[in-house]
Amino acid sequence: MQILEKHKILEKNATLLLVFSFLVVTIGGIVEIAPLFYIDSTIEEVEGMRPYTPLELTGRDVYIREGCYVCHSQMIRPMRDEVERYGHYSLAAESMYDHPFQWGSKRTGPDLARVGERYSDEWHLDHLRDPRAVVPESIMPSYGFLENRMLSGENVMDRVQTDALVGVPYDDAMIAAAREDFLAQADPDADASGMEERYPGAQQRNFDRQPGVSEMDALIAYLQVLGTMVDFSTFEPDPNR
Ligand code: HEC
Repeated sequence: MQILEKHKILEKNATLLLVFSFLVVTIGGIVEIAPLFYIDSTIEEVEGMRPYTPLELTGRDVYIREGCYVCHSQMIRPMRDEVERYGHYSLAAESMYDHPFQWGSKRTGPDLARVGERYSDEWHLDHLRDPRAVVPESIMPSYGFLENRMLSGENVMDRVQTDALVGVPYDDAMIAAAREDFLAQADPDADASGMEERYPGAQQRNFDRQPGVSEMDALIAYLQVLGTMVDFSTFEPDPNR
């Protein structure tokens, strides 16, 4: 009771309350921020993470342009209900090449952080053309027009270079071959050996089942890689962190 009585003095004096609030926030701020100056990186390095292929990166731009993030998050929180529904919680490293990150703040639809390889390309194609064809109660808009928007890849080298500028580790060879890799990934008849060497684990397929590279190819290539780069059957969190 004694301490509560004393606290009343603070509560009744606006200036004193302000001074003490400032003190508390300062101490809290220092405790949170100071340790950051003494560690090399806030992101634990994780095996398997690679930059997006030019096609996936283009699909990511379509995702952002169409506002998919307005209804979908891309971050699985380390809570039991989320982990049981969506899979292993998201690691900081999994979005370290995302500029800007797509964590999102709203889940009108499910989290997409690990949607990669969960469905077939055909499922995505049917779903994006007409969500209600596969999920009758869906309120997601249709995105069938993406199939008709063809891409030449003429600007993709600049796009990759821009990400390199902000720190994504695209090397000179990746930048030089950006367009070649872009076209090869969506064409099963193309020689993709260079692309697969530069982007280990990248999938070469005709994602939208029609000739040429469309925005649909790019978007499905992007969706299919989400959350698949890190192999969680062998992943161990660093105990020193
Ligand atoms: C108006 C909100 C809304 C927007 C915008 C939206 N979605 Fe959805 N999405 C949903 C809802 C609701 C569901 C769940 C029902 C369903 O599967 O259709 C869903 C489901 C999905 C699924 C299946 C996820 C799973 O785990 O079953 C994928 C993939 C998906 N959306 C991708 C996209 C992409 C890509 C875009 C942008 C081109 C997009 N969505 C835009 C609301 C939205």
